[in-house]
Amino acid sequence: MKDIQQHAISPDDWDEMNFPRPEVQGFDAVVEEAISRRGFMGGVLAFGSGAAVMGTSMLKGTTAIAGQSDRFAFEQLPVQTDNTVHVPEGYTWDVLVRWGDPLFSDAPAFDPATGVPTAGSDRVFGENTDGMELFKVGNHELLVVNSEYVNPKLNLAETEDGMPTSAEDVLRLQNFQGVSVMEITEGENGWEVVVDSPFNRRIHHNTPMVIDGPAAGHDLLKTEADPSGTQSLGTFNNCGSGRTPWGTYLTCEENFNGYFGTTEEPALDDVHVAGFSRYGVNMEVDTNRYNYHGFDPRFDISKNPNEPHRAGYIVEIDPANPDSTPVKHTALGRFKHENAAYALAPDGRVVVYMGDDERGEFMYKWLSRDKYVPGGDTSTLLSEGQLHVARFNADMSGEWVALTPSATGMSEAEIAIFSRMAASELGATTMDRPEWIAVNPTAVEGYCCLTNNRNRGVKPNAGGDPTPANGPNPREVNNYGQIVRWRPSGDNHASNTFEWDLYVMAGNPTNQEGPYQGSANINAGNMFNSPDGMQFDTTGIMWIQTDGNDSNEDEFEGMGNNQMLAGDPVTGEIRRFLTGPTGSEVTGLTWSSDRRTMFVGIQHPGDDGGDWPDHGGSLARSAIIAVKRVDGALVG
Ligand code: FEO
Ligand code: CA
Ligand code: CA
Repeated sequence: MKDIQQHAISPDDWDEMNFPRPEVQGFDAVVEEAISRRGFMGGVLAFGSGAAVMGTSMLKGTTAIAGQSDRFAFEQLPVQTDNTVHVPEGYTWDVLVRWGDPLFSDAPAFDPATGVPTAGSDRVFGENTDGMELFKVGNHELLVVNSEYVNPKLNLAETEDGMPTSAEDVLRLQNFQGVSVMEITEGENGWEVVVDSPFNRRIHHNTPMVIDGPAAGHDLLKTEADPSGTQSLGTFNNCGSGRTPWGTYLTCEENFNGYFGTTEEPALDDVHVAGFSRYGVNMEVDTNRYNYHGFDPRFDISKNPNEPHRAGYIVEIDPANPDSTPVKHTALGRFKHENAAYALAPDGRVVVYMGDDERGEFMYKWLSRDKYVPGGDTSTLLSEGQLHVARFNADMSGEWVALTPSATGMSEAEIAIFSRMAASELGATTMDRPEWIAVNPTAVEGYCCLTNNRNRGVKPNAGGDPTPANGPNPREVNNYGQIVRWRPSGDNHASNTFEWDLYVMAGNPTNQEGPYQGSANINAGNMFNSPDGMQFDTTGIMWIQTDGNDSNEDEFEGMGNNQMLAGDPVTGEIRRFLTGPTGSEVTGLTWSSDRRTMFVGIQHPGDDGGDWPDHGGSLARSAIIAVKRVDGALVG
């Protein structure tokens, strides 16, 4: 998501005020270290052309791809700056579902001027579509989709500046977020939602959840309404997605801190103050956010100081069972979860890679204690195991360091609730905002989008960890982002060591200098900034989605609107496939079970005052589009 415009002060700005600027450290040396070695596969280092971008050291030992035929089935789409979606020749797109479309026949009709009223706002497709996964249950195609946040100016269109004026307004915002489960089907008119399917379900900010894992029942999770500390309401800021081999959906709670506030000076102990500071929970009396706390005391930390400890987790949802209770898995840590990418170790243990999307925060790995056996008991796999954090070394090695009580001096429950502090104790590598992680289905390796970090080399993270330029984060004031890749030792995702390289450094080769031109696989034709969403298709092509600066000016000149590109992990080639409407972010990607349709999410299309996709002056509506080939061939 974008920085929330209506915040009086963003968590980053708050951070900036409260922590001093560290010394600038050996920038040039770190860049040289990161790019002067040959990578273990294609990408930055094995991609020959354009090596001048990085200096002559790039030319040594590189493998030119001239003469190779590429694996992409399309020609590169030029940059676009208009208010619609573009795909390459030979492809079509159509809207599957928009914010406010009915999931049930008793849902209110969408009004182009005012949207959806509060009554029935939990019966429609949610706002700001993000991560999604498709599940085939019997003959039913079930699409499970996150609704990350709201644009109050659109969602409370009749209010001044989108500020809630009542508990009813707050309830409407709460209902538009969370997760939508919906059956979809392809007919003569293309893909559409099966209204009233028994699988359809809205999970929102007031849906009952079970809390499990080491933090369940801990004093820091107990509230007046839930003295057990094991039953919470709602899932928050559902950003990226994940899935398990046993057919469940993982929704990832990211910027949960933004929903909390206080109506009076809160009386907080040191533990609460330290936690709220690290996670960006606002402790000042303030009505200038969503203002849930003004009308719903659950979000008022002066009245319910433990409520924020009940958000920030990975939540598991069973789409096949509409009556199931979602489970918050505290064992997988509490931070600003972007997505959850699973892999299976050769022995059957489950690995889940996760990023914490905040400047200077960390990358994590979960390793289950028990093995996944198809058809067997899966109830312990996300509850019993070990959380690790990544340490990247300058020599292009790295390790997953276990967050244990003996290593951190914290209890298992404290590690689960305050994972950031536990990771800081162990010297984890501060990253340039880890967004989506994807695991290659055709090679034993993982990738993480490090979207950008204007604070790299400028100031520490919220825990005071210094953030000098380092191995996989080699550029100070990094406005473009990069994708790091790691290959676990022994081709085993359960290994606690790995080798890494950079698959790409985004940049602008037309008007920048040095490393800000981007890596050798970036050129004037395919340049972009701020890689964010990422998924592999079954053929091993990596799809990269952007959430960046779409001004098309200055250092972003020539990059156009946010977009989706295809990357070849072997050759390093990257090619633009799709562009979004002005102001939007492209996020969320999955495929129909026959792989003939690609579903792509278009988030916050109205940010530049646009009216996509309805046009004609309608409120802008985030939407999922269905992309197909004209000849009906497979798309991944
Ligand atoms: Fe919700 Fe980090 O994107
Ligand atoms: Ca994102
Ligand atoms: Ca982003």
